[in-house]
Amino acid sequence: MTNLVDTAEVQQLLDKVAGGGQSGGDPRVKAVVRRVAQDMMRIIEDFDVQPDEFWSAVAYITRLGQANEAGLLVPGLGIETFLDLRLDAAERQAGIEGGTPRTIEGPLYIAGAPLSKGEARLDDGSEQGEVLVMHGQVRDMDGRPVAGAVVDVWHANTKGGYSFFDPSQPKYNLRRRIEADAEGRYRFRSILPAGYACPPEGATQALLNQLGRHGNRPAHIHFFVSANGYRHLTTQINIEGDAYLHDDFAFATRDDLIPPVTRVEDAGRIHAQGLNAPFAEIAFDFVLHAETQAAPTTIVQRPHAQAA
Ligand SMILES: [Fe+2]
Repeated sequence: MTNLVDTAEVQQLLDKVAGGGQSGGDPRVKAVVRRVAQDMMRIIEDFDVQPDEFWSAVAYITRLGQANEAGLLVPGLGIETFLDLRLDAAERQAGIEGGTPRTIEGPLYIAGAPLSKGEARLDDGSEQGEVLVMHGQVRDMDGRPVAGAVVDVWHANTKGGYSFFDPSQPKYNLRRRIEADAEGRYRFRSILPAGYACPPEGATQALLNQLGRHGNRPAHIHFFVSANGYRHLTTQINIEGDAYLHDDFAFATRDDLIPPVTRVEDAGRIHAQGLNAPFAEIAFDFVLHAETQAAPTTIVQRPHAQAA
């Protein structure tokens, strides 16, 4: 097969595609688009992609966007994890190591959850699930409490659905922001989430099927932890014991993010919670790094759905 991509004709075509010689536009965008177009041509050439295969891929991208699943496919292809690995590497180069590991945000965050001081209850009591009490301290790398740090927490319900995206749940269900107290302590009561899977008939799962992969995530709880003067932390904890704990389709599990889940059976403590059955407890501290200009920002601007 001839190599067409490297011919003068195709290289000149790519120059025109990317606005080469045009004074307007953004040079960085031009360079990236030229590379994307060239790499696509190279894939077509290297794999001898036939026109019907190519147009089926175009139709796939269209379907992915129409279903609002692009943000689901990205972690499934390991790209969101790759962005985390890049940030980890940049931080190591700047001498930033240790602290609570980051992991992917995923596509289901909603800004503006109710804010409370010190503690919160995330569920509204309408769902029968195992009660979870999670608490801990936000500290810096020297072990000092980060007073007033905001723990922004969101998780799925017992069926693996998230409020806003799952219309059966009330607004901001299982989503809260908790301002840590003077000792950096936070605490919340909720219900243990279940794992979940990509929509089985959706575009993401359709591609995973072609790869022979499942689309399951182990049960987890998402966090943003932020405080003035500290690097913003995006992370999750996993619920131990989940069958998919180390087989997450989104590649978000990290070793230091699997805290033990304790079953509290002490009658006094059960009673103190206003409960009449044992409950689950997770103790987990968040350790933040001081902000620095030596590494790229950890505050990621990406579009988020807004609760009405
Ligand atoms: Fe999630």
